[in-house]
Amino acid sequence: MTCNQRESVGIMTKPKVGIIGLGAIGFEMLKEFHANPDVEIGAVCDANGERARQVAHEFNIPAAYTAYADLLADPAIESVYIGVPPVYHCEIAVAAFAANKHVLCEKPLANSVGETVQMVEAAGKAGKIHAMNFPLNYTTPVREFARLVDEGYLGELRRVEITLQFPDWPRAWQQNDWIGKREQGGFVRETAPHLLQMIQRVFKELPELQYKHTEYPDDPELCERGIVAHFQMKNGALVILRGGSHTAGEQKVELMAFGTKGVLALTNWDDLYGAQGSEPMTLLTSGGEYAQELISQFAAAMRGEPAELYDFTVGHQVQQLLEELLD
Ligand SMILES: NC(=O)c1ccc[n+]([C@@H]2O[C@H](COP(=O)([O-])OP(=O)(O)OC[C@H]3O[C@@H](n4cnc5c(N)ncnc54)[C@H](O)[C@@H]3O)[C@@H](O)[C@H]2O)c1
Repeated sequence: MTCNQRESVGIMTKPKVGIIGLGAIGFEMLKEFHANPDVEIGAVCDANGERARQVAHEFNIPAAYTAYADLLADPAIESVYIGVPPVYHCEIAVAAFAANKHVLCEKPLANSVGETVQMVEAAGKAGKIHAMNFPLNYTTPVREFARLVDEGYLGELRRVEITLQFPDWPRAWQQNDWIGKREQGGFVRETAPHLLQMIQRVFKELPELQYKHTEYPDDPELCERGIVAHFQMKNGALVILRGGSHTAGEQKVELMAFGTKGVLALTNWDDLYGAQGSEPMTLLTSGGEYAQELISQFAAAMRGEPAELYDFTVGHQVQQLLEELLD
């Protein structure tokens, strides 16, 4: 096969993706899809039609829709990325499977366990690819964390501590009308799924919730302000989650694992620290890029090749624990 023939085969087989939701994360993902050589953006959709048209124009995308049903009816689109607020994930994903599309969905998978069950069922019935955007799986520090745990760096796991500390909530980069509300927002819904799923990936199990106390402001519309929760791993290791917002102090998101031999900490998403014995912690590696890898894995799955994806079953399992924390 000549180089030109290979290129033309490559172009012909590039799957066309529809991007639904062009807000804080959706627009970042759109730029990543646009930059990825394995896929092509066939259409965009946002409830704000002007936004969809403007983005389609800027990135030379052939179709812009206001209603997701119109994008799903577009036969050129093979798969969709869902980047809308959590209360809309279920209806859009279920409709996408009914329209025979593969789905890459934002976390949390949905807004209730009833919805995640429906989504897993719809995905199975359709026989389409279903994947989550759990970015940490694709970053160098988390891959290194997992590799070190597998190699025995920690010894026996004794304790995991999760810190979710946000002086300001919502954060400056994610201002919208839902993220500060109890219905589908809050720092627990928004950030805990990443770290709970990381525990599942690294330690091959989700811990069992034993105790939680969630503090809410008086206004019943507003999201939680503080949380303390204790879980247990199968070997008895304690998992302690504590977090809060609207206090003094630096923003900090951390997952720290203490073993009999070593300690590892993923700090502020991107930095991996580690220590053996009682040595001081040192920075082992840094880096938060993930989206190109995720999109390439999604594209590989669409080509029928093996791919590292975290599917709706994983999203559902994380949702079960999330809802236990917040109910
Ligand atoms: N994976 C991550 O690291 C990460 C980071 C941030 C947010 N998220 C998740 O991504 C999702 C979106 O978050 P965001 O911060 O971008 O929200 P956002 O409010 O900034 O953006 C949502 C966009 O979806 C559009 N929209 C709303 N309903 C729609 C509908 N029915 N059809 C079409 N468009 C619709 C809105 O007009 C808006 O442009 C949430 O589930 C959030 O939890 C994930």
